[in-house]
Amino acid sequence: MIRPKITGTGSAVPQKVLTNFDIEKMVDTSDEWIVSRTGIRERRIASEGEFTSTFAALAAQRALEAAGVAPEELDLIVVGTLTPDFPFPATACIVQQIIKAPNAFCFDLSAACSGFIYALATAEKYILSGKVKKALVIGAEVLSRIVDWTDRNTCLLFGDGSGAVVLEAVEGESGILSTHMHSDGNYWEILYQKGAGSRNPATQKNLDDRLVYLTMQGNEVFKLAVRAMGEVAQEALAANGLTPDDVSLFIPHQANQRIVDSIGKRLGITGERVFVNLDRYGNTSAASIPIALDEAVRAGRLKEGDILLIDAFGGGLTWGASLIRW
Ligand code: UT7
Repeated sequence: MIRPKITGTGSAVPQKVLTNFDIEKMVDTSDEWIVSRTGIRERRIASEGEFTSTFAALAAQRALEAAGVAPEELDLIVVGTLTPDFPFPATACIVQQIIKAPNAFCFDLSAACSGFIYALATAEKYILSGKVKKALVIGAEVLSRIVDWTDRNTCLLFGDGSGAVVLEAVEGESGILSTHMHSDGNYWEILYQKGAGSRNPATQKNLDDRLVYLTMQGNEVFKLAVRAMGEVAQEALAANGLTPDDVSLFIPHQANQRIVDSIGKRLGITGERVFVNLDRYGNTSAASIPIALDEAVRAGRLKEGDILLIDAFGGGLTWGASLIRW
């Protein structure tokens, strides 16, 4: 049986570290509040001259190297992002130019923090259709450029970086078992970027009104995230006749330690089986799962045959989960 299988992972984050103590100097907050409410201690921030494509391309090159796949072999590049280099062209096309992958078709996918799982599911379907043999799936963000650094409700949560995987059509039992995605457009206004689109274009007035920045009703997002991520994880397990006990490693979207703990508790997956790195990177949106996955792989946390559960939630609203036999 042919299954889409992750054959290599890579990640790249900016060098520049912004700690909670740095943020204490920018807005009315404290390291104690941030750590106790979110679990975040520091995040990486892109410097001048670094863009979403910078980290996406670097993560991609590392994933290709790990997989032993040459860029010319790629049939597809898909980038999940809410902070592309430009509204158009797709950041995936810019990555294609940087890594020199002339045979791939390339596009971006907009599903906010669920962007990596949506992108993985899309590449999975192309591989299952037989149209694509080798795909590069990337989650990449430079959120620091759409965060309002005067808003203490949001600025301390987010960070920059990218993670990538190579997905190949492979004969055998290991690979993606299933992907599950949902959306609820009734809640789009609880988490979005007001400006820079067709509704509030980049006029001087809209810039002066600070419409360009991300805005969020944190409490509401929190409650919906816990419920939706728990439900879609259960759906993925049930679809494969598996239980939480079968899961070797759980990599949830890295938004908030309290969200991670609540979902883990609901599912009965806790302790060593839950991978967390949000203390070092904050919420990197579509990049959070592939960065965590790359770190888990490089730390030897996944061995052949292990069952990996990934689970995300984000603006849209969008949410999704996938089960993967390693
Ligand atoms: O990737 C998916 C998208 N995002 C998320 O998943 C984020 C989901 N939401 C969250 O993570 C949490 O809702 C936050 C971390 C954003 C906020 O935590 P919370 O526990 O929901 O805090 P809150 O907004 O209910 O505020 C609690 C208190 C308030 O004070 P009072 O009214 O109790 O006196 C706030 O004014 O904390 C105060 N507060 C702060 N204090 C210090 C709010 N922000 C801050 C701050 N520093 N930065």
